[in-house]
Amino acid sequence: MLNIVIFGAPGSGKGTQSERIVEKYSLNHISTGDVLRAEIAAGSELGKTAKEIIDNGQLIPDELMVSILAAKLDALENSKGVIFDGFPRTIAQAEALKKMLNARGEDVTAMIELDVPEDELMTRLLLRGQASGRADDNEETIKKRLVVYNEQTSPLKEWYKNDGKHCYINGLGELDRIFADIVAAIESKLG
Ligand code: AP5
Ligand code: MG
Repeated sequence: MLNIVIFGAPGSGKGTQSERIVEKYSLNHISTGDVLRAEIAAGSELGKTAKEIIDNGQLIPDELMVSILAAKLDALENSKGVIFDGFPRTIAQAEALKKMLNARGEDVTAMIELDVPEDELMTRLLLRGQASGRADDNEETIKKRLVVYNEQTSPLKEWYKNDGKHCYINGLGELDRIFADIVAAIESKLG
C-alpha cells in the first residue's frame, strides 16, 4: 500500500495536490479538515466542539483527532493506500499514525512537504475566503493558523527526516510543475 502524508502550512496546496495524487495512484483521501467541516455542517456534537476551535485557528486535541482518524482508517475496504491531508499536525499525531499503520503491517511511504512563503499563503487564503467563504479564511484567523503551524506542526519536518520519509517540494508556482515534483518524490521513495 502507498501511504502518503501531504504536509504544509495553511494554503500551501495540500487539498489541491491531493486531488491529483488520488487520481494518479487511486488512493483514498483522508482530509481531517474536510472531516471536521462535514461534522460542522451536520450539526453534530463533534462539529460544535470543532467549530469553535477551527474558527479560532487552534488545533483539535490530539486524542480526539487520533480517534477520528482511526475510525476513518478502519472504515476503508480494499484500499490501495491513503493520502493523509492535514494529519498529522503534531508529533503526538505522527507517533500515533506510525503506530496505527504499523499495527496493520504498513508505514508511511513518503511525507511530502509543500513549502510556500507566508505572504503567498496569506494571499491565497484571503482570495479563497472571498470565493468559498470558509469561516477560517479571514486575516485574523489565518495569522493564528500560521503561528500554530510554525510552533506545533513545523517540527514534524525534522521528525519525518529522522524517519527517512521527508521529501521537500517547492510549493510556489505552476500546479503542473508542483505535481510533477511530487510524483518524482513519491517514485523515489518507492525505489
Ligand atoms: P485544514 O482544512 O487542514 O486546513 P489548513 O491546513 O489550514 O489548510 P487549507 O485547507 O486551508 O490549505 P491547503 O494546504 O489544503 O491548500 P489548498 O489546496 O486548499 O484544517 C482546518 C482546521 O481544522 C485547522 O486549522 C484545525 O483547527 C483543524 N484540524 C484539521 N486537521 C487537524 C489535525 N490533524 N489536528 C488538529 N486540528 C486539525 O489551496 C489553498 C488555496 O490556494 C486554494 O484557493 C487553491 O486554489 C490555491 N492554490 C493551491 N495551489 C496553488 C498554486 N500552486 N498557486 C496558486 N494558488 C494555489
Ligand atoms: Mg485543505
